[in-house]
Amino acid sequence: MALLDVQNLSVKFRTNDGIVNAVNDVSFSMDPGQTLAIVGESGSGKSQTAFSILGLLAQNGFATGSVKFKGNEILNVPLAELNRVRAAEIAIVFQDPMTSLNPYMRVADQMAEVLIHHKGMSKSAAIKEAVHMLDAVKIPGAKGRAQQFPHEFSGGMRQRVMIAMSLLCRPKLLIADEPTTALDVTVQAQIMALFSEIQKEFGMGVLLITHDLGVVAGFCEEVLVLYGGRVMEQGPVDPIFETPSHPYTRGLLKAIPRIDKGTKTLDTIPGSPPNMMQPSVGCPFEPRCQFAIEDCAQRLSPLTEFSKGRLRSCNRVLEDVA
Ligand SMILES: Nc1ncnc2c1ncn2[C@@H]1O[C@H](COP(=O)(O)OP(=O)(O)OP(=O)(O)O)[C@@H](O)[C@H]1O
Ligand SMILES: [Mg+2]
Repeated sequence: MALLDVQNLSVKFRTNDGIVNAVNDVSFSMDPGQTLAIVGESGSGKSQTAFSILGLLAQNGFATGSVKFKGNEILNVPLAELNRVRAAEIAIVFQDPMTSLNPYMRVADQMAEVLIHHKGMSKSAAIKEAVHMLDAVKIPGAKGRAQQFPHEFSGGMRQRVMIAMSLLCRPKLLIADEPTTALDVTVQAQIMALFSEIQKEFGMGVLLITHDLGVVAGFCEEVLVLYGGRVMEQGPVDPIFETPSHPYTRGLLKAIPRIDKGTKTLDTIPGSPPNMMQPSVGCPFEPRCQFAIEDCAQRLSPLTEFSKGRLRSCNRVLEDVA
């Protein structure tokens, strides 16, 4: 059975100016232990996809579709029911660790609190487990550092603390929303390596959200490329990196350096992201697409499987955009 099965997920926000269509008809499935990435530019709907899964949408937001966790529907279920799953089996790591850590509490104490609350552990057992977890995320001298306050840790170390915290209840699914964006590239690489190691050890599924396709290579198995809240391309990472099938994916890939391909220049995609308030009837990427034909402004191609496990939404035939 799938660990997470998302079908036809849409997220809309009511605002004074109208309805924002943040996520449109997104479907994907994750097996236990699998890693799936959601990539796309800022505002493409990555975080809202994750937030809706966790019931964390803002007050003015609502989600439709279906989200099944281990076969049970969790989208729009009563909070008490959702809390049971969220606390024990799904964890989230946010972009900025400072927003999720209490600055006035020692790291050990805030970690222990999670275990005391959710697992009914004694304080001393909880502290011991907290230190064990800090050790697992490779915080040197974990026992001593656990007694420090969050501001005494560097950015990279704080992110490790957040990861350790999210792993305390041994989740089956970890949702990581831009976990390394705030960090410099060296620390970024260390954190991703750490994720990979921990993931193997704990056998958990990881849903990684990032705007950086470079981070996805080598870490994720499957990827979902979002543009304007819609899936443009979806499938296994390696073939998508080798032969991207959608002009937008190609654009994203050109914007990252590739040592193996000896990239000399980096191209950005000209133009700006679409207005989510007035969704076009055609393909959202059409105004920025160098391959667009007249049809593209009028008609959005359905997401179609063109080879095993690979899906794309594009009006042009594959060979013409290659
Ligand atoms: N409470 C809200 N009310 C109205 N619109 C919202 C609300 N929250 C998010 N949005 C809109 O939903 C769209 C998708 O936002 P989302 O946070 O998923 O983007 P993202 O892909 O995570 O971007 P980033 O890389 O910048 O984090 C954006 O256009 C955003 O402005
Ligand atoms: Mg986001």
